[in-house]
Amino acid sequence: SQYTSEIEVFEPKTAEELENFRIKFLGTKGIVKDLFEEFKTVSAEEKRVLGKVLNQFKQLAEAKFNDFKDAFSTQKGQKDIPNDLTLPGFGVETGGRHPLSLVRKEIVEIFKRLGFIVAEGPEIEDDWHNFSALNFPEEHPARDMQDTFFIKKNSGQDDIALRTHTSSVQVRLMEAGKPPFRALMPGRVYRNEAISARAHCFFHQVEGLYVDENVSFADLKQTLYYFVQELYGEGTKVRFRPSYFPFTEPSAEMDISCTICKGDGCQMCKQSGWVEILGCGMIDPNVLENVGIDSQKYSGFAFGMGIERITNLKYQIRDLRLFSENDIRFLKQFQSEI
Ligand code: PHE
Repeated sequence: SQYTSEIEVFEPKTAEELENFRIKFLGTKGIVKDLFEEFKTVSAEEKRVLGKVLNQFKQLAEAKFNDFKDAFSTQKGQKDIPNDLTLPGFGVETGGRHPLSLVRKEIVEIFKRLGFIVAEGPEIEDDWHNFSALNFPEEHPARDMQDTFFIKKNSGQDDIALRTHTSSVQVRLMEAGKPPFRALMPGRVYRNEAISARAHCFFHQVEGLYVDENVSFADLKQTLYYFVQELYGEGTKVRFRPSYFPFTEPSAEMDISCTICKGDGCQMCKQSGWVEILGCGMIDPNVLENVGIDSQKYSGFAFGMGIERITNLKYQIRDLRLFSENDIRFLKQFQSEI
């Protein structure tokens, strides 16, 4: 009981006083330890009474120590530094945006200036929105198990899959409203490909759609030309090559003059001076009819690009896998960008 009151009134002024307290009561040769040793030697009857008292005593000492231990301890790893309140504080570590988010944001902002809104849709899609409404013929190879991760596959019509492109959102958007449409669909898409530096089983796209009366191929070219000047800088050249997509007619692929070697030939553009950055075309009238739009009255264009590719070109990244491995040394390089 003498000890009990000693503990009760104890109020350390320094870390040293607290440490002495700890050694005296709670140390390996301390009073608590001693009492417990003694406890072993008493009769069973006494144990019943003493055990409780002893435990209370131990808890009291521990509680006192805990009350004060934070008062004197300094920051981790700073044990030797005196408790000097005039020292500057520790900086708060900030996070950073992922490079793909940075570039997606930039793309969206450029098109927003042209009046495009952002539309989103589900990553798990049915056959209609991912394929059929987009004019994919029944036997089109893109529907094969090769490219598509099917969740449910049997008859075709009611197949369920992870979307292979965000064109599915175009269908949802057009089904839900009336023209004119001017929208951008960013999102994650999935394709059943072996993972390497140049391919991944998922990646990110931004697709765009413009439907109104009298929309022409000239509108498509001018819109995408403006986009490239804004994203890669004034003077970046573009060229269109004929291509094929089931949902556009005519279709094209757009190249830009290589932003890395400025056209002199490098690894990125395979010495050609040109790099492909997106697919585009005039929306096939069949697609418009499939979503209930009068294809006599309305026309439109669409385009789609992979954000990874755009980012690679902007930041000279050579390996796609970096985007999904979360290596902090890679991600930190983008910390200063907002
Ligand atoms: N959906 C196409 C793809 O994923 C891209 C594209 C969109 C092409 C719109 C033309 C028009 O590859």
